[in-house]
Amino acid sequence: MVVVSGKHRQTYYAVRDRNTVMGDIVVAGSSVPGLAREISEDFRCKFAAARVHKFPDGELHIQVTENVYGKRVIYIQSMSPCPDDKLVELLITVDLLNELGADNVTLVAPYLGYTRQDARMKPGEAVNARTLFKLLDAVRINELVSVDIHLHRLSSKELAKLTDITIKEVSAIPQLAQHVGNMLDNPLMIAPDSEAGRFAKVAAKVLGSDYDVMQKRRLSPTKVQILPKKLHVEGGDVVIVDDIVSTGDTMVETAKALKQQGARRIIAAFTHPVLSDESVAQKMFDAGISKIISTNTIPSKYGVVSVADLIVAQLE
Ligand code: R5P
Repeated sequence: MVVVSGKHRQTYYAVRDRNTVMGDIVVAGSSVPGLAREISEDFRCKFAAARVHKFPDGELHIQVTENVYGKRVIYIQSMSPCPDDKLVELLITVDLLNELGADNVTLVAPYLGYTRQDARMKPGEAVNARTLFKLLDAVRINELVSVDIHLHRLSSKELAKLTDITIKEVSAIPQLAQHVGNMLDNPLMIAPDSEAGRFAKVAAKVLGSDYDVMQKRRLSPTKVQILPKKLHVEGGDVVIVDDIVSTGDTMVETAKALKQQGARRIIAAFTHPVLSDESVAQKMFDAGISKIISTNTIPSKYGVVSVADLIVAQLE
């Protein structure tokens, strides 16, 4: 687990009387109601779903009818599919919860979107991750719990300077490794790129197996190239480990390279099933991947590993 502590957080809450806390309540956003309920049951606290509707022109109408006054609210919202909608819903709901007198708000964002663009690669390019944290600060979030956040270029130090929110990040990679470990015989863990190297390393440690790291070149948002590399995979089982699958191209190109070198069975294991359209999974199967294993940070039929326990462990 990684914890980044926000320095100025107390200024937001200093005016509130801590003795008014009447208990915790989970409030679910529209994205992962099933996971939100699981978390409330595991954490043994009240559950309420925010009512989220759209006006005819597409603007959101949000209502929280449960009394949140003086309570610690654990608001649960993932940011996929439709990250723009989910982000606006999140900002409006958290602001509302504070207006309704919540003592403090813990945002549980199992999948935190807008973090992939965490550095300026080209002149004039927006750094979405920085804007995201400014917005989260503005609506007053006390604590953020998330899973495998895609901040590869923004260090914890930089993040702490950027936001007042205490950030608790947990990883689902050990759970994913345990899950695939029951299906394969001493699999080699493969990271499709250097950023995923740490995930393959952790997964290999869990299973006591080996890992290797490929090199990826991103040619465009929808096209990647996996550079040739000699691997010891002939006749063996392989797990490609990553944090996110969006277009699926990273998995497809890696699987093709593994198949060319004689890999027997290939499983794709990753935390966030963003799966940008319906053809993504089929593309992965066509490339030789026999099974897709993911978590329930985003609703998907491949989300067989629940992150509820990991999240509850961070809620005290
Ligand atoms: C990249 O840094 C990420 O870890 C994933 O490898 C990437 O987001 C996957 O994207 P796609 O499925 O579109 O290739």
